[in-house]
Amino acid sequence: MYEGLLKQYKEYLPITENTPMISLAEGNTPLIPLHSLSKELGINLYGKYEGLNPTGSFKDRGMVMAVAKAVEEGAKAIVCASTGNTSAAAAAYATRAGVKAYVVIPDGKIAMGKLAQAIIYGADIISIPGNFDEALKAVRDIAKTEAVALVNSVNPYRLEGQKTAAFEVCEQLGQAPDVLAIPVGNAGNISAYWKGFKEWHDLKGTSLPRMHGFEAEGAAAIVKGEAIDQPETIATAIRIGNPASWTLAEAARDESNGHIDAVTDEEILNAYRKVAAQDGVFVEPGSAASLAGVIQHVKSGKIKPGETVVAVFTGNGLKDPDTAINATDVKISKMSDLEEMRMHLRNGVSEL
Ligand code: F0G
Repeated sequence: MYEGLLKQYKEYLPITENTPMISLAEGNTPLIPLHSLSKELGINLYGKYEGLNPTGSFKDRGMVMAVAKAVEEGAKAIVCASTGNTSAAAAAYATRAGVKAYVVIPDGKIAMGKLAQAIIYGADIISIPGNFDEALKAVRDIAKTEAVALVNSVNPYRLEGQKTAAFEVCEQLGQAPDVLAIPVGNAGNISAYWKGFKEWHDLKGTSLPRMHGFEAEGAAAIVKGEAIDQPETIATAIRIGNPASWTLAEAARDESNGHIDAVTDEEILNAYRKVAAQDGVFVEPGSAASLAGVIQHVKSGKIKPGETVVAVFTGNGLKDPDTAINATDVKISKMSDLEEMRMHLRNGVSEL
C-alpha cells in the first residue's frame, strides 16, 4: 500500500527516528499525456497533475514534511500566509498531526474552494486587507516572537518535501524531460523541482531538464527585475509581487539554461480553457500559467519541435469554480419535457 511521501522517499528526506510519519497519502500523482495539445503544438506534452493530491494542490508535498518537522521540534501550532492552497494544506496536516493551524489570507483574493477547505479542516483563519506579500511579512515577524512554527516555503523543509515531485516525474518518464514548465508565485516550487532533479540525476543519471518558469504578467517581479507593490492577476494563487525564493529561482533558471517569462491573464485563461476542453484536465488558473508558457515558448522557439515537456499543473480546477464559470460562455439549456430533450439530443447527435 502506498503510504505517502515520508515513507516513499524516506532516505532522501531529512527524516530521523523522531520524525512523526504523518501522511494523507500525498504524492504519487499521475503524469498525464496530453494527446490533443501535443499534436497541436508538435511536442510530447505531459501534465504532472498535482491537483490530485489530498488537498488538491502540490502544497501537500511540502506541508507533510514541514508539519512533521515542526511536531518533531515540539511545536503545538503552525502559521502561514497564503493565497489559498498553502492554507488548505496547512490546515489539513495540522489536523492530522494534532496541532493548531493559523492561516493568514489576503481579504477577498482567495478562491472559494480554498477558503472552504481551511474552514472545514478547522484552521484559525485571519484575513488582512493587504496582499500575500504583506501577509508573509507579518507571519515571518510573528513567528520570531511567538511559539508557532512558520510553514511557508521560507521553511526549508517545505522545499525538501516538494522536491519529490521531480523524483516522480523522472520515475514516470524513465528520465528527466527536456523542459519542465512551471508557474512561479513565491518561487518555492521551481526551486524545489530543480533541487529534486539535480539530486535524482546524481543518484540515477536521469539527466536534467531546462526549467521554464512563468509568472503572471501583473505579478512578474523576477521577469521585471523589481518587486511589485500591487500585484494583480486573475490567477490569485500566484498574485505575488516579491517572491521569497527569488534568488533560488534565478539559480534554477540559470543553472538549467532555462527561462523565467511572463504570461498575460488572457494567455492563462486561454490555456485554462484549452486543457480542459481538449484534453479533459481541469486545473486552476494559476496552474494554467505553465501551459500558457509552453504555448508561448513553442511559438517563440524556446521549446523546439519534438521535445518532451512536462507542465506542472499545481492545483485542481475545482478549487476555483467561479473563474471556470466566468471564463466561459455558460450554455445551459433549460428544458422541462422529455420530448424537447429528445429533439435536442437528436439534433445534436445528427450533426456529429
Ligand atoms: N500554483 C498554485 C496553484 C499555487 O497555489 C501556487 C502558490 C503556485 C502555483 C506558485 O508556487 O509559490 O512555489 O512559486 N501558492 C501559494 C499559496 C503562494 O499560498 O498557496 P510557488
